[in-house]
Amino acid sequence: MDLLVVGSGFFGLTIAERAANAGRKVTVIDRRHHIGGNAYSENEAETGIEVHRYGAHLFHTSNATVWEYVNRFTTFTNYVHRVYSTHNDQVFALPVNLHTINQFFGKALTPDAARALIKEQAGEYDVATARNFVEKGVALVGRPLFDAFFAHYTAKQWQTEPEKLSADIISRLPVRYNYDNRYFNDTWEGLPTDGYTAWIERMADHPNIDVQLNVDFFDESQPLNKKALVGQVPIVYTGPVDRYFDYAEGELSWRTLDFEEEVLEVGDFQGTSVMNYPDADVPYTRIHEFKHFHPERKDTYPTDKTVIMREYSRFATRDDEPYYPVNSTDDRSGLLAYRELQKGEKDVHFGGRLGTYQYLDMHMAIGSALSMWRNELGGE
Ligand code: FDA
Repeated sequence: MDLLVVGSGFFGLTIAERAANAGRKVTVIDRRHHIGGNAYSENEAETGIEVHRYGAHLFHTSNATVWEYVNRFTTFTNYVHRVYSTHNDQVFALPVNLHTINQFFGKALTPDAARALIKEQAGEYDVATARNFVEKGVALVGRPLFDAFFAHYTAKQWQTEPEKLSADIISRLPVRYNYDNRYFNDTWEGLPTDGYTAWIERMADHPNIDVQLNVDFFDESQPLNKKALVGQVPIVYTGPVDRYFDYAEGELSWRTLDFEEEVLEVGDFQGTSVMNYPDADVPYTRIHEFKHFHPERKDTYPTDKTVIMREYSRFATRDDEPYYPVNSTDDRSGLLAYRELQKGEKDVHFGGRLGTYQYLDMHMAIGSALSMWRNELGGE
């Protein structure tokens, strides 16, 4: 073995694929029973509808190098992501755009008139001096839109009253003064034509790559563990950085999600892939309906059944899946302390969203793995 990769998410697999192509023998371990990390998907047993097991994953990028790279393993559909939001029994288009504003205020404003209205409503507070999330949100988009679409939605995500949330959790709130309601602004977007798992499997399909599942790097009863291998072979570690150091500098905090999946005896439940629920009296934040991610599969998907997933957000304990870094002041100083400890680890390279304690979209995880391969691991 020339390289051990801990974690078979997009970061780990990109490193493994590049190294294998350069002639190195790579072993990839993952503690889960499948490869692909959080991008893993599988077909729901009763309906055959592809379900993203760890939450909806939409691929989008403006990075030409990443786009060229991912297209070696999969083609993409022409799916364009759009999100809607049910507030007070009405459905609005997101991100907040001219249609949302005109529907919300019952008007037919021009872009300039809408901009003037929001500026006037936002005058209550100043972004620079806002003391909490509410003041900053109101300063950015005005109270009516903030209350409707952001205040309670974010409070549900953080399980904290809006006034008690820090102003730091937002830097901007998207408002568009035109009728464009594409969710992403990137040059390329789409979903892998044959699904995420087919894509991921093609990345790992190389004679120089040996994948071993159900192997935890910290389980000393298995041969491929930290104690046995650090210092013996170069390691790319994509698990949680605090776990690597046995939480010596404290636990870094994360939010997690709970998913409630249901097969419904109806052809179409909500007419779209993602519906947000920003009101305080609905406990979940959004509902995904997976068949809408692949309209091109309409002839193979059932017409009388659908799969939906309600999403709930909460703080993670050590036993939960870590999804979004909380990034509190304590977390930031803890992370700096872990970065210092990393310097003492011989030939261990920390990467990916868990290894760097950073939210990374898929294209960012892949892009940063390609950089690590070139800059730290001697790749081309
Ligand atoms: P990832 O978490 O995928 O992989 C890490 C792997 O390491 C896991 O498989 C884990 O089991 C393994 N591991 C950890 N500890 C280990 C140990 N001790 N021993 C062995 N293995 C270990 N991105 C995007 O572009 N569009 C989107 O729509 C979304 N949507 C989205 C929704 C949700 C809910 C989340 C949480 C994330 C997204 N993402 C996303 C982000 C996307 O999931 C992310 O970019 C990739 O998962 C990053 O890949 P990594 O390889 O860094 O981590």
